[in-house]
Amino acid sequence: MYSVLKTTRRWWIADKVSEYMKRIQIEGGRRLEGSVEIGGFKNSAVALIPATILAGGLCVIDNLPDISDVDKLSQILLNNGAKIKRQGNKTIEIDTSGIEKCYADYDMAKELRASYYLLGAGLGRFKKAKVIFPGGCSIGTRPIDQHIKGFEALGARVSIEHGIISVEAEKLVGAEIYLDVVTVGATINIMLAASMAEGVTTIENAAKEPHIVDAANFLNCMGAKIKGAGTDTIKIKGVDKLRGCEHSVIPDQIEAGTYMILAAATKGDVTITNIIPKHLEAITAKLKEMGVKITENGEMLRVEGNSAIKNINIKTLVYPGFPTDLQQPMTSLLSIANGTGTVTETIFEGRFKHVGELKRMGANIKVEGRIAVIQGVDKLSGAKVEATDLRAGAALMIAGLIAEGTTEIENAQYIERGYSFYREKLIKIGAKITEI
Ligand code: EPZ
Repeated sequence: MYSVLKTTRRWWIADKVSEYMKRIQIEGGRRLEGSVEIGGFKNSAVALIPATILAGGLCVIDNLPDISDVDKLSQILLNNGAKIKRQGNKTIEIDTSGIEKCYADYDMAKELRASYYLLGAGLGRFKKAKVIFPGGCSIGTRPIDQHIKGFEALGARVSIEHGIISVEAEKLVGAEIYLDVVTVGATINIMLAASMAEGVTTIENAAKEPHIVDAANFLNCMGAKIKGAGTDTIKIKGVDKLRGCEHSVIPDQIEAGTYMILAAATKGDVTITNIIPKHLEAITAKLKEMGVKITENGEMLRVEGNSAIKNINIKTLVYPGFPTDLQQPMTSLLSIANGTGTVTETIFEGRFKHVGELKRMGANIKVEGRIAVIQGVDKLSGAKVEATDLRAGAALMIAGLIAEGTTEIENAQYIERGYSFYREKLIKIGAKITEI
């Protein structure tokens, strides 16, 4: 049987601790050398855990990142009747045969963006779900109109009252759904619900990110019939029943990209292991364009920074374009590159909150609407700064590693939402970083 009590206690403690503000101190100016092993992809894991609801049986997920978002989502499943057992910090066993409802209220899910996947999974299995309006990083309005458009096309009624989204359907019938915006969340959410609808659903203008493919592979392993994931047209043939299965989460290309950037920024020599190079093509190409030396060798990359990196122009796009989640970490590297560069953020309208904090460290950046113009400076200087979201925290961590003197980052708990064991991984390659 599962040790639910022990598991519950662990998560309760983790949940309470993660609510407290954390502060870290970084001694800058140190060259980082050594190797970093990349963990499972956060944005895939936060879809796979809710997807286990559809199985109605025992799922085993391996290569899970040990991050607070995973803990919070697991706690929500526990609260809904799942039986969960952790094997170490990378493998989780989730038995959802005992789940009879799909509910996540304010206290459970207020900070989570991915709580919206409980809607698609609950709709697929129980034909209803109630979930708090999703939270997540404050990087823009982050509407969910395309999720709702998909659920309604499948025959569900959607209502939003007192901040709770309720979805309900007598039955789900396959439909043709054209997404007005290429959206990762809506693509996966519709896939979840449609996997147990009657008939065929086609999603046109679907997102093509690697974690869409990872989610489709997991659902197909449960017995779903999904074709075309990774292209802009996905076909889902609904089935009556799904079953538990085993799956390993793909490596986190955003975590990998972040370590590649900080290796270049500290003029270091860092080998990044447990990656899929294909998923890193955009960041690899842009770093090479700056003059960073990158050597590929199977499932690892070696990044050698040098002092003559030049500024470039970055434009965030949906996959396989340059990922919006690496725009903020990249801004820290561009702020010390030679010449002038620009960052154009086409996905989220409010993703430049880190710029103000970088300017307190001496960066020369001017934001005009969706474009940041960056004039490279010789050096940044350590300062007290504040993380406003997960990737802003990563950007400030990189800036602290390259600045002269000491940097203190307030709200460092944001970083833990997407980077498992980041302090341990950085200290192992020579960083001086402490929690205060
Ligand atoms: C996911 O957010 C990720 N979060 C984000 O990662 C990532 O930046 C984003 O995908 C893009 O890759 C998780 O997976 C938990 P979208 P999501 O739906 O699903 C608009 C990180 O740092 N849109 O692909 O919210 C939306 O406003 C986080 O790890 C609608 O208009 O992103 C945005 O402009 C940050 N209507 C664009 O689409 C909708 O119904 C892309 O959003 C949904 C989205």
